Amino acid sequence: MNKMLTAIVLAGAFSAASVLAADVQESWDKQCAKCHGADGAGQTAMGKKLKLKDYTDASVQASFTDEEAVKAIKEGVKEDGKTKMKGYADSLSDEEINALVAHVRSFKK
Ligand code: HEC
Repeated sequence: MNKMLTAIVLAGAFSAASVLAADVQESWDKQCAKCHGADGAGQTAMGKKLKLKDYTDASVQASFTDEEAVKAIKEGVKEDGKTKMKGYADSLSDEEINALVAHVRSFKK
């Protein structure tokens, strides 16, 4: 009985995790890729205009911490009082934001 229960709990955990991975890919593609690019390199029309960093570049990845990335996604990015990236604190959960940071990290080549 106990083994059975463990199997059920584990199956639940795995399917939740895989749904989340698909969700993160979808959020990135829908909400972030128009600026940062599907591959994170920032080579989109918006990305070039905003001079986005190339997240496939290891030195770029090293230039910010996970905490800074979380903060940028939550609160957005402003420069000279102008919003360059809006904050997503209202529309994304902490779990989704953490997963997006992991997604950003995965672009590193
Ligand atoms: C309107 C264009 C735009 C959209 C949409 C956008 N960003 Fe950004 N993002 C920027 C700009 C501009 C910066 C600041 C410059 C830079 O870091 O390249 C930035 C910075 C960041 C940073 C901070 C990196 C650092 O150097 O600290 C992260 C992480 C990030 N964005 C993730 C995301 C995620 C995740 C999404 C989608 C939920 C998203 N961005 C959507 C434009 C955008």
